[in-house]
Amino acid sequence: MSTPNLTLLYGIEPARRPTGLERATRSMAELVSDLGPMQEAGDVSDLLAGLAHAVRREVAADAVLVSRYDAQLDLVCDGGASVRPPATLNFVAEQYSLDEYPATREVLVTGKAIEIARSDPEADRNETRFLSQYGFSRSLICRLVHSGAPFATVEAYRTEDRAFRHDDPARVDVLCAFASSALTRLELAAQLEGHYTMTMEALVSALEARDPHTEAHAGRIRDLSTALAVALRLPSEERRAVKLGSILHDVGKIGVPDSILLKEGSLDEQEWKLMKRHPVIGERMLRSVEFLAPAWPIVRHHHERWDGRGYPDGLAREDIPVGARIVAVCDSFDAMTSNRPYRKALSLAHAFEELTRNAGSQFDPACAEMLVEVVSSLGQDRVEERLVRYAD
Ligand SMILES: [Fe+2]
Repeated sequence: MSTPNLTLLYGIEPARRPTGLERATRSMAELVSDLGPMQEAGDVSDLLAGLAHAVRREVAADAVLVSRYDAQLDLVCDGGASVRPPATLNFVAEQYSLDEYPATREVLVTGKAIEIARSDPEADRNETRFLSQYGFSRSLICRLVHSGAPFATVEAYRTEDRAFRHDDPARVDVLCAFASSALTRLELAAQLEGHYTMTMEALVSALEARDPHTEAHAGRIRDLSTALAVALRLPSEERRAVKLGSILHDVGKIGVPDSILLKEGSLDEQEWKLMKRHPVIGERMLRSVEFLAPAWPIVRHHHERWDGRGYPDGLAREDIPVGARIVAVCDSFDAMTSNRPYRKALSLAHAFEELTRNAGSQFDPACAEMLVEVVSSLGQDRVEERLVRYAD
């Protein structure tokens, strides 16, 4: 008796194995979704982490480590990792020599992937010791080539003692080729951004030339603000906003007359009113430059206060964009540690006291606390030399 046709009788599709085409379509869809993080990466670290994630999924590994290769120093440094618990991996981000890892070096030089099994008595001892240390049974070592030279090693690890597929190295190569083109995009973007930044800095230094007391102010605030943004672990987009915003925060002072900007004595009420317009003037000036959009809110809000008593909008606490809170505390710190016509620069210890005293009223307490840490970690001598420019 023949099997009844269930689809015709009840509209039920019998269970069946997916066809080759269906499998290919599904794996293509997964691949495309795995490429997303690399495509959107804002810096090389994000990109290498995205590559590690994509490779881990593509070759069904438990962990993947991507390490940058420095050809000049002949050293590698962990650059990105992806781990699927319960597997673990120690991500050290320190440079180390490949002399102890001959298999990895061979892959870097020849481009031919190598698979290592911990149980293989012929395998290199250092490599198998590393596998034992983290409870892995196998590793597949590949390389990422960029601009015609080895750029990174890509190592996939499996806990289960199951061999990688013969076409896994080719799949990793495809992902690495994609990562290389994403790297090119990042490099071009960085180049373009570098040109824009230089142009902006030239404009800002022309503005600073009006007032000898603020010479190089924007450069110092850029350095401090970006260091603070990194210390606060802001994402790369936010860090870029802080860099642009810190350079341009006072650009609106171009609209403040010299008689006010350069006045030696204190300002009267009317003069203060004009002076306090500079964040709004600055934001308006930059509004037509779409490229600078991330800097707009920082320029507008860099004189807001944590307690809501700042200007121009009286925003408080987290309503103030984080970039503006960062620039605000760095701006004040730079003012404290610089000579002014009406007072001398404060010592670092005194400036730290002021930051702490005003944390929670004028400043975001987290930003103020971290700024003390960042400045302290720069080393006293360097800080005195770089930041306290006008102290006697
Ligand atoms: Fe300002």
